[in-house]
Amino acid sequence: MKRVDDFRLRFGKREIVPIMIGGMGVDISTAELALEAARLGGIGHISDAMLPTVSDRLYDTGFVKEKLQQYKYNIDNTDKSAVKFDLGHISESTRLHVSKTMEAKRGEGMVFINCMEKLTMNAPRETLTVRLRSALDAGIDGITLAAGLHLGSFAMIEDHPRFRDAKLGIIVSSLRALQLFLRKNSRTNRLPDFVVVEGPLAGGHLGFGMDDWMKYDLRTITNEVLQFLRDEKLDIPVIPAGGIFTGSDAVSFLEEGSAAVQVATRFTVADECGLPKDVQQEYFKASEDDIEVNGISPTGYPMRMLKASPAIGSGIRPGCESYGYILDANGRCSYIDSYNREVAAHPGEKKIQVLDKTCLCTHMRNFKLWTCGHYTYKLKDTSNKLADGSYQPLSAEHIFRDYQFSTDNKVALPPQK
Ligand SMILES: Cc1cc2nc3c(=O)[nH]c(=O)nc-3n(C[C@H](O)[C@H](O)[C@H](O)COP(=O)(O)O)c2cc1C
Repeated sequence: MKRVDDFRLRFGKREIVPIMIGGMGVDISTAELALEAARLGGIGHISDAMLPTVSDRLYDTGFVKEKLQQYKYNIDNTDKSAVKFDLGHISESTRLHVSKTMEAKRGEGMVFINCMEKLTMNAPRETLTVRLRSALDAGIDGITLAAGLHLGSFAMIEDHPRFRDAKLGIIVSSLRALQLFLRKNSRTNRLPDFVVVEGPLAGGHLGFGMDDWMKYDLRTITNEVLQFLRDEKLDIPVIPAGGIFTGSDAVSFLEEGSAAVQVATRFTVADECGLPKDVQQEYFKASEDDIEVNGISPTGYPMRMLKASPAIGSGIRPGCESYGYILDANGRCSYIDSYNREVAAHPGEKKIQVLDKTCLCTHMRNFKLWTCGHYTYKLKDTSNKLADGSYQPLSAEHIFRDYQFSTDNKVALPPQK
């Protein structure tokens, strides 16, 4: 019976344990988590979501305070188009986070950064260009282009000295999206180094429609992508993601031709994960009925989360003067519209509820939106229940090694503390 460890992901001469921990914003996939994956010979991700505020928290910078100071005058204004990011701040925070992470890297594995196109930041092209280029400048091993089609992303960095040496990949949820990406980027004469195929059971935003995500399945999409690449004689590693919960699940994909797997949910309860300890207990305790896919993200993508997330129904004032990561090219965000509608409908009320959308920036930053994968309800079976009813947190190493060496669909419990 094969184990994940019987396979290797090959990047040229480099051999990697074929386990990639997916990016989880905002700083849920911490540098510590990514570094553990790299130390153990696999690939870890940091996330580039909201790095100015992450940098303030981790490295004592003052980017958010400065932005708020500059735009305080606009807080009561419903038009947020004037609230622009300082590109220098974006660059500095990205360089800080990436370089500090890369300096601490040990072992044979790699650290990538997850870059979401849907973080349009009130100037989509300019801000994404700076994010991508600064990550390359600071020595990241690779970039995973996420949450969007990224039709122009290669062009933003094609003149960068590291364009051909850094590993660049894309997350897609359909063969069509991959074909479009390849067609639009063919002019740069550079293929992606890997393709993550993300199915409908993943955590975070889903690349499917609100009403049809349940009709798709990861294995079918992965096989379509593999077949297409074989037909086109394109040698690009394919990495399925979404619902791969055991080593045996992973092996079944590797045996069918995938080069590695991307996993995340199992690591949400790791010591090194950025979620606060009490929130991790919510993940452990969740039952299947406690999880839903809903449309409250202002990005327009469906998102899976725990129904108990404090972000659901919260009617806080939009925090764009401090954050503003979802503002589109015209300074708009659908949460602002929903919020203003409720304020107008309830004049004089101090606390309002907004049910159809949420302030993604503030709530993700404060760990109040508990996004999760479909199989979160199985996390309780991966640890020991303690006398006080809580679950024993796990080390990332324990989870990583369980994926790497387990067979027979088994999940190894941690040594009891
Ligand atoms: C808490 C959480 C946050 C996530 N955030 C992101 C993100 O910011 N960007 C992204 O591309 N994918 C995100 N994902 C998706 C993962 O990177 C990964 O592809 C997917 O969840 C793998 O499926 P699994 O969780 O069933 O193992 C997130 C997943 C989780 C569980």
